[in-house]
Amino acid sequence: MGNAKKIAILTGGGDCPGINAVIRAVTKKAIIESRMEVIGFEDGYHGLVNNRHRELSYNDVSGILTLGGTILGTSKIANPYRYAFKQDERVEFRDMSKNAIDTIKNLSLDCLVCIGGDGTLGIANRLFEDGVPVIGIPKTIDNDISETEITFGFDTAVQIATDGIDRIHTTAQSHHRIMILEVMGHNAGWIALHSGIASGGDIIIIPEIPYDIDLVANVVIQRNKKGKRCSIIVVAEGAKPKGGEAVIKRLVKESLDPVRLGGIGFVLGEQIEHLTGLETRTVVMGHLLRGGTPTAYDRVFATMLGTEAVTMIQQNTFGYMVGVKNGTLTHVPLKKVAKGPRTIPLNHDLLSTARSIGTCFGDEWH
Ligand code: F6P
Repeated sequence: MGNAKKIAILTGGGDCPGINAVIRAVTKKAIIESRMEVIGFEDGYHGLVNNRHRELSYNDVSGILTLGGTILGTSKIANPYRYAFKQDERVEFRDMSKNAIDTIKNLSLDCLVCIGGDGTLGIANRLFEDGVPVIGIPKTIDNDISETEITFGFDTAVQIATDGIDRIHTTAQSHHRIMILEVMGHNAGWIALHSGIASGGDIIIIPEIPYDIDLVANVVIQRNKKGKRCSIIVVAEGAKPKGGEAVIKRLVKESLDPVRLGGIGFVLGEQIEHLTGLETRTVVMGHLLRGGTPTAYDRVFATMLGTEAVTMIQQNTFGYMVGVKNGTLTHVPLKKVAKGPRTIPLNHDLLSTARSIGTCFGDEWH
């Protein structure tokens, strides 16, 4: 057993179902097995920079397994190395990493567990390089963190999207309409691919495969001619037409990655209605995919990740993220994680599976 006596947890980036299950697992195991003192920083790296934290006792984490969001709060903006100060419309960035590192030293922390996506884990890696003992846990509905096959939150998001598309099916059938479902996923199409297959989507449009709008419209027309009077199109928010760009919903200047995607569903809806003459509606699932209680899979997986992080602390193994490779937990150096998002490889089995049952990805159709 290692000699860690006091550890801290923070949650950064967008919230996602299962974060509280991780907080609970880390805290319980650290207390039960090693009698560690556990604290939680509030609102991600804001808490670290400004020394805002609270104790996490065994009782504090009881009853949170099924709770969505994060009991600690989070931030998609806070970055100790490029900390944003906003005055009126002007944003100024300052390096506040010394404050963050001082907080860790002053609290005599033996480890900082960072639960987050690529942005949060990239910062965790910088802190590690600056001498802070850190462990990362991959979190995002997008499932796009490199060096891990899966992230917690993804299964829940896919289930919510699938439930939504299932419900849209009945309206599409009753009204003989084209229904477009836009789902989140940032620059990766994992949520669209999985929920599209799970719900029997006719056309699935993902960022990895730029679409041809004329081909998409033609598929809809051909289906109509064959007596399929409704079509379901699942589109990832990061999708782009051949030779074109993704649709940007807003820019958040002070954010690590300022671009917020969204709106492609409405663009497609107008174009398809115009090209096919068929009535078309768009539904954007948006943040619904990030909310509420995690699936059983995500609860179990989050618990495995959290307890593995404590095993690593007990073994004094720092500077790693707990990942999954070939279905087994692994330890991945954080510097490898920072290399960018994990998108769908074009030779992925699920693409050929879906194509073999007639699903169109907007690039070809037989
Ligand atoms: O990374 C999670 C995610 O929900 C993405 O799928 C989406 O692009 C983005 O965050 C939305 O960000 P915000 O919550 O700032 O609108």
